[in-house]
Amino acid sequence: MGRVLVTGGAGYIGSHTCLELLNAGFEITVVDNLSNSTQESLQRVSTLTGKEIAFFKVDLLDAEALDTVFSRSDFGTVIHFAALKAVGESVAQPLQYYQNNVTGTVNLCQAMQRHGVTNLVFSSSATVYGIPKSLPLTEQSETLIHEVTNPYGRTKLMVEFVLKDWQRAFPAMNVALLRYFNPVGAHVSGRIGEDPNGIPNNLLPYVSQVAVGRLEKLGVFGDDYETADGTGVRDYIHVVDLAVGHVLAVKKLSENPGVVTYNLGTGIGYSVFQIIAAFEEASGQRIPFEILPRRAGDVAACFADPSLAKLELGWSANRGLQEMCIDGWRWQSNNPNGYA
Ligand code: NAD
Ligand code: UFG
Repeated sequence: MGRVLVTGGAGYIGSHTCLELLNAGFEITVVDNLSNSTQESLQRVSTLTGKEIAFFKVDLLDAEALDTVFSRSDFGTVIHFAALKAVGESVAQPLQYYQNNVTGTVNLCQAMQRHGVTNLVFSSSATVYGIPKSLPLTEQSETLIHEVTNPYGRTKLMVEFVLKDWQRAFPAMNVALLRYFNPVGAHVSGRIGEDPNGIPNNLLPYVSQVAVGRLEKLGVFGDDYETADGTGVRDYIHVVDLAVGHVLAVKKLSENPGVVTYNLGTGIGYSVFQIIAAFEEASGQRIPFEILPRRAGDVAACFADPSLAKLELGWSANRGLQEMCIDGWRWQSNNPNGYA
């Protein structure tokens, strides 16, 4: 079936995807600079699957080292997760984000080109839709670079354009742009999960650290949005469903489709208050919270129309909110300090 190169494979979504790829029978190589992860995640994936992972601690900005990785194996497909992803940090350090996320991707594409690797799956984001003009978001919804609310999001949209231009020039290339909504939860084993550095920026890791007693209370960023209960609404998707979507995208690229773009979400939006209630039920812990002002750049509501992925990949999310919270809590309570 060909070996898959996974960049950023030691990270949250990458590690879950490595597990699903191995279970589907693929051989994999991971490159990661471990700037936001640890190799422990991959060791656990190996233990869970009983299969080996070839690992290289390489930074995508080091073109020479990257080239060496391509020299050592023949890759059928590359899945490209490696990126910096903290929205606030990207506002403070935009050059670091453009260099890591855009230049890193260009280096990767150049290595692929030199070594004749033609299939690429890219981690894009619902953030490319900016402020939604209508919901649910389809792949045809507008993506305007000046409406994307932060530099991180702009790196995602810029890379989409880089990859489309590349494929136009080299039609033998196949590219899947996967626009994730809000990945949450963890593998059912409770052995791998999300392990953010420092205070979490995202809702679910914050809530689970409150539940486990690492943080005192949640700040709810605004209760005056035009949503049913006034809090922000998002399309949370179980990370294992997301990982399975990547396996199907790898298979899709073997049909030589050129560029394909898919929303990966459930199609259902939940509010911050609904998340708090669901997590309290899953964990049996109370989640104290206070209402804070809105967070800059946040939209009221964002959820997907995932029907194209169903039609063309045969993919749909089948793990609901309860399962996301139960699995996320199993990971957090078994590993209160993450991989440390
Ligand atoms: P993560 O930080 O856990 O994983 C990213 C991995 O890439 C890390 O292991 C990090 O060490 C590595 N990395 C970063 N820069 C690198 C470089 N220059 N060279 C080599 N390795 C590098 O993040 P994640 O949540 O697993 O996200 C994976 C991808 O999905 C990212 O591209 C992210 O932008 C995208 N995405 C994430 C979300 C989300 O909410 N988690 C939503 C939409 C899109
Ligand atoms: N929220 C809080 N308190 C917190 C954190 C979040 O109330 O401490 C609220 C936010 O205001 C928002 C919702 O919870 O209404 C979800 O916020 P997240 O930060 O978890 O997720 P976002 O939708 O803001 O952004 C995430 C990723 C982006 C990605 C986007 C795709 O951080 O990288 O999903 O939709 F682009």
